[in-house]
Amino acid sequence: MQYILAIDQGTTSSRAIVFDAQASVVGTARQEFPQIYPASGLVEHDPEDLWRTVVQSAREAVSRTGIDVADIAAIGITNQRETTLVWDRATGKPIHNAIVWQDRRTAPLCAALRDAGHEPLISRTTGLLLDPYFSATKLRWILDHVDGAKAKAARGELAFGTVDSFLIWRLTGGRVHATDATNAARTMLFDIRRGAWDHDICNLLDIHPSLLPQVYDCAADFGETTADLLGRAIPIAGVAGDQQAAALGQACFTPGMMKSTYGTGCFALLNTGERVVESRHRLLTTIAAQIDGRRTYALEGSIFVAGAVVQWLRDGLGVIASAGEVQGLAESADTTQEVVLVPAFTGLGAPYWRPDCRGAVFGLTRSTGPAELARAALASVGFQTRDLLEAMVADWTEETGTATTPVLRVDGGMSASDWAMQFLADITGAVVDRPQFQETTALGVAWLAGMRTGLYPDAETFAKHWALDRSFLPRLAAEVRDEQYRRWKKAVAAAISMEN
Ligand code: G3P
Repeated sequence: MQYILAIDQGTTSSRAIVFDAQASVVGTARQEFPQIYPASGLVEHDPEDLWRTVVQSAREAVSRTGIDVADIAAIGITNQRETTLVWDRATGKPIHNAIVWQDRRTAPLCAALRDAGHEPLISRTTGLLLDPYFSATKLRWILDHVDGAKAKAARGELAFGTVDSFLIWRLTGGRVHATDATNAARTMLFDIRRGAWDHDICNLLDIHPSLLPQVYDCAADFGETTADLLGRAIPIAGVAGDQQAAALGQACFTPGMMKSTYGTGCFALLNTGERVVESRHRLLTTIAAQIDGRRTYALEGSIFVAGAVVQWLRDGLGVIASAGEVQGLAESADTTQEVVLVPAFTGLGAPYWRPDCRGAVFGLTRSTGPAELARAALASVGFQTRDLLEAMVADWTEETGTATTPVLRVDGGMSASDWAMQFLADITGAVVDRPQFQETTALGVAWLAGMRTGLYPDAETFAKHWALDRSFLPRLAAEVRDEQYRRWKKAVAAAISMEN
């Protein structure tokens, strides 16, 4: 038993990675699937696409390695968080498409709950803000809009889950309805201090308790896969939301350590250890991990569009043929043009939380072209990260009484761009550390499953594997950096004011 199979079900693709006993990659496979945009601000996935691409990539990754399936000690599952599914317990069939974390359809419900004065209770209990990003209002929407769903839910015939739960259900042939504490913490129904579903919030949203999965530690017994899947039953021993898994893969085990992952969106997590830090700067408080019943916490800054802005350049504007071309195009830009792009395609996340805001471009001239737009697109990710870091550093300093100079461990597709990472260091004033091993999300959940099965060591020993690829040091004078950032803040304020 010397391999771990990590399944990473993300927003745009499903991936499977086989790790050996030294936590080195021996095989990978990846499959993209269609995004469904029914209307502005709405994003769905076909649950069968999620399932099909997970199964196919798991089979492909295993067959590429040529290993004996009997040597796979366990499976770890990590996933796009918050995305909401409801399925029929009898048939295993979802009753609606998955409503994706980016989807803003429940903004009116969130506004109504806020107007009715419920935000303080929700924030205190769940660590989250009242925003359509989280699962609870999406679940309510499905129950309200699918014929007969409310009655079925009341009869206990339906199951709700985030993507991990749905996959666990399918992988175990409908025997296990479970999630882990990190995914539960993103539903807006979970008390992050007690580690239990919150009855008051469930009552407020009229969520029947029978809909909810069992919540386990991140390294736990989540059941066994059916034998037909890979030719033999394999235990599922690790589960974590993708951003929490990336923080583990980045070995951010000590309070004060911070990582930022550039996938579809960008998610920065600051480990706060056993402290539940209530943000005074519009960040989220979330469970970083729950291992052996012990919960650790993080402050999180979530921005909805990072890599997605590069996809937009490729698929929407057609100015690049592949994501790899964006850096070259950005580098060729005329830097005297001060184009600012606010990529609020699906609203703005932390620290603004404006689901109604939409994107905007400022500073266009007759000579603005694809290169200037590409530069502004990459820069927007740096500016948004600075928004998060400013809030995080302020929260952490107020909490601990010690000022901190942030070191940011980065990963995800966009971190491969030296230009984007140098800009990030320049505009934030933080040291940006890129590790040699980039598959941190899969590695994090592989570690959970491997640790549970005795293949991998404890956190301290595992952390020694983290190795630096390159450190990006801030090179911009503070006045220049702050001036550029002021322009960004003005652009954001203008984009928000358009929607008022
Ligand atoms: O909260 C959403 C996040 O988990 C999605 O991550 O990597 O699929 O963009 P990603």
